[in-house]
Amino acid sequence: SLGFANGTIIDLTENAVPLEDRGHQFGDGIYEVTRVYNGRCFALEKHIERAYRSLRQLKIPAVHTYEEFAQMHHLLITESGISDGAIYFQITRGVAPRGHGFPENVVPRLTMSIRPVAANNRLQADGIKALFIPDERWLRCDIKSLNLLSNVLGKQRAKEAGCVEAIQIRNEFVTEGTSTNFFIIKDELLWTHPLSNLILSGVTRSIIIETLAPSLGLTVLEKPFSPEFTHKADEAFICGTTSEITPVISLSGAVVGDGAAGPVTQKLQQAYQMLID
Ligand code: PDD
Repeated sequence: SLGFANGTIIDLTENAVPLEDRGHQFGDGIYEVTRVYNGRCFALEKHIERAYRSLRQLKIPAVHTYEEFAQMHHLLITESGISDGAIYFQITRGVAPRGHGFPENVVPRLTMSIRPVAANNRLQADGIKALFIPDERWLRCDIKSLNLLSNVLGKQRAKEAGCVEAIQIRNEFVTEGTSTNFFIIKDELLWTHPLSNLILSGVTRSIIIETLAPSLGLTVLEKPFSPEFTHKADEAFICGTTSEITPVISLSGAVVGDGAAGPVTQKLQQAYQMLID
């Protein structure tokens, strides 16, 4: 595993982050996670585009060009020799004496890391158990900000219940997982929460909606639905950069569909695999 800070490659154990980086003190920044397959970053353009959007929403100036981001990702892959992994990067507002308001004359600070990732074939074949929890996050879940406390607590609740993911509910509607988007399938139709301030616009979600579903002749309804509705679903899955497409076979103890990876989910998984290869 390698890192990138202050414009150079470093070892991950190196102490590279200043104490007064606003990322530490306020979670004042944004992040992205991309998957590396066969030495190449998957859907990097979409991740960088989203990073620019998140920065704009937080009024953090963008100081890196698209080409620079691409180069730094490439550098981490070649320097680390990791051909199957995940790259994390974050940009904070910068380093300044602590105070809530934006400091003047700060330069946004980029740090990155790469780590190897093994394919999670088991979970993708067998599916996972998930748990419904109340969505207690702030109202700007569309920004991929460093503030992940609610997501962290939600994931831990899932783990303690013997589940892999927690699916969040706000105002009687299912929003998304703690680090994934959520889909259900009923009568061959895909349902997922529409884009709004209440969910992250997932790259994997958009690939499913724009590329995979149309190629399979499947219709996607971007409409809110209730937890009760999910109990009538034939299939359900979570999706995200590291989870890819993972079937959900039980929700808060209730079996989903046949309690196994369903045929539509499997078709989507195969189509996703084709994009990666
Ligand atoms: N999580 N929803 C939330 C709240 C997320 O944090 C993520 C990503 C997604 C899926 O987005 P994408 O398909 O672009 O990865 C949905 C990343 C992987 C993480 O926090 O590690």
